[in-house]
Amino acid sequence: PLRLVVLVSGTGSNLQALLDACAEPAYATEVVAVGADRDGILALERAEQAQIPTFVLKVEDFDAREAWDSALMEQTAAYAPDLVVSAGFMKLVGASFLARFAGRFLNTHPALLPSFPGMHGARDALEYGVKVTGATLFVVDEGVDTGAIVAQAVVPVEDDDTEETLHERIKVAERRMLVDSIGRIAREGFHLDGRRVRFGAARPIQ
Ligand code: GAR
Repeated sequence: PLRLVVLVSGTGSNLQALLDACAEPAYATEVVAVGADRDGILALERAEQAQIPTFVLKVEDFDAREAWDSALMEQTAAYAPDLVVSAGFMKLVGASFLARFAGRFLNTHPALLPSFPGMHGARDALEYGVKVTGATLFVVDEGVDTGAIVAQAVVPVEDDDTEETLHERIKVAERRMLVDSIGRIAREGFHLDGRRVRFGAARPIQ
């Protein structure tokens, strides 16, 4: 099976969707560890419930951001993942993490990139007044939410939406997009053709 490490900071509903999918052998994917940047979050409880190993690395416990980044890289690498998925991980990783997992570190974002990057994708789309928004799964690069796009899902913005109702609608579509995309990567692999992500293993994963 495809070995996944999932990085989280919050409620972990995307993680849960992956864990549920992984229970099916045909999905051919295993979450081998869950990493977080804080404790006391529901995402870690979900991992423990599923008996998945967890690790927590808080930036404030390190002298420098680079030391935190290296530790995150080492801990993640210890589980020998084929793919690392940031599912609501609210930290930007640094150079050593990116170098180690180049091309196989994916992030899910609650907006249709390149619109509304950053920490508040759902809120920013609502405030701008767009009538459709959605979720994007992309390959992380050095920029903030600038990497090559693996998949997108569209959701409507309703007149009476608040940030919360809109984000919840996005998250329903986001979970399906994430589960479908990881399943397809497990079956077929993927590769980059410039900025275009293509399924099929021109370059096999690991
Ligand atoms: C998701 O909607 C994810 O796209 C978003 O946080 C939520 C986490 O939900 N991530 C970002 O905004 C990253 N900039 P979850 O913890 O329930 O999976």
